[in-house]
Amino acid sequence: MARLLITGGAGFIGSHTCVVLLQAGHNLLVLDDFSNSTPLALKRVSALAQLDSQSSQVRLQVRRGDIRDQAYLDALFSKAASEGAPIDAVIHFAGLKAVGESVREPLHYWDVNLTGSRCLLDAMNAHGCHTLVFSSSATLYGYPERVPIPETAPIQPINPYGHSKAAVEQLLQDLAASAANQWRIACLRYFNPVGAHPSGKIGEDPLGTPNNLFPFLSQVAVGRRESLQVFGGDWPTSDGTCIRDYIHVMDLAEGHQAALDCLLAEPTQLLTLNLGSGQGASVLEVVHAFERASGRQVPYDLVARRDGDAAITVADPALALQRLGWQTQRDLDDICRDGWAWQSANPAGYNDPG
Ligand code: NAD
Ligand code: WQD
Repeated sequence: MARLLITGGAGFIGSHTCVVLLQAGHNLLVLDDFSNSTPLALKRVSALAQLDSQSSQVRLQVRRGDIRDQAYLDALFSKAASEGAPIDAVIHFAGLKAVGESVREPLHYWDVNLTGSRCLLDAMNAHGCHTLVFSSSATLYGYPERVPIPETAPIQPINPYGHSKAAVEQLLQDLAASAANQWRIACLRYFNPVGAHPSGKIGEDPLGTPNNLFPFLSQVAVGRRESLQVFGGDWPTSDGTCIRDYIHVMDLAEGHQAALDCLLAEPTQLLTLNLGSGQGASVLEVVHAFERASGRQVPYDLVARRDGDAAITVADPALALQRLGWQTQRDLDDICRDGWAWQSANPAGYNDPG
């Protein structure tokens, strides 16, 4: 059992990972500025992990703060140590993730994603905590030269968001190569995280209009939006729509647990792993799977391609299986069933009493 700092733990992937880590017996300290999430998500995490109010105060502590606030981070690590419960490891989800926004606001993205990570690493180093799981992204592969994509594929991001993730990975490689290296680091390159906890209590709740396919089509199915725009019907794929590797967020959460176990059990190392299913699904296949799961029709229009999309991205997940003994357990139908359980029980996301 470890004491873990979870940055961005109230967000989509962080909240699901918190449930898995609490159920595994770890004690969590979540740091989030709630710029893209709500503390309500963590209340539901606590309920899902069956924590009563007394154990919750120890097992799931929540702090509102910004990862760029160096003094705040220092105080957080110091306080944990002075209370006799030092932080053993960090899972670092906090960051900004909207590709289009990153093109409009590159300085903001470099600041939160790179400066924020650098501040966190500084605080960890100063307080003798050298175990880190970092949220990286398949966005690093840009337009991949071939699929499935192994971790050795060229790193060629095509937008500021991707550049900022690549820069953090480079910083982590530099740390791992430093003379006094004590670091145990896992860079996990997620493919397309979707779905929700099967209880329907927590899920993805984007602010404003969703940028991504899955939350958009869920909101169409539940009646919050009229129809889905399918970006491009003339891609070189079997039905003309883009193919992606959609990974159930609970599989992803379990991947973090496996990565953490591996880091804590072994000497210093830098693990760089794809987390994906290895299976591709087209946009229309996702739409039809969601229609089956929800029993609702999802009206859609085929429109022009979206700038910056690749025709096909699918992970080669073999290395994660070899190093962590981890592979996805849930398929597209499970993803749609659980995504619909969340969306139908919470049509307005966390604004619903749920
Ligand atoms: P999310 O926005 O739901 O969660 C991120 C959390 O970080 C939010 O709770 C937000 O409030 C918090 N946060 C943002 N800036 C902060 C700051 N300066 N200080 C403290 N907290 C801050 O996103 P998510 O989908 O859960 O993604 C988690 C991580 O995984 C991100 O780093 C993202 O780039 C990466 N990732 C996500 C995807 C995806 O498609 N969801 C794919 C690959 C990688
Ligand atoms: C999937 C497919 C769209 C919306 C993004 C980021 C990536 C990573 C995961 C963070 C594509 C199509 C979408 C819509 C559509 N995030 N689509 N209509 O672009 O594969 O990956 O999330 O690291 O960096 O780029 O995901 O869900 O936006 O799109 O037709 O309204 O759905 O064209 O083919 P993407 P997505």
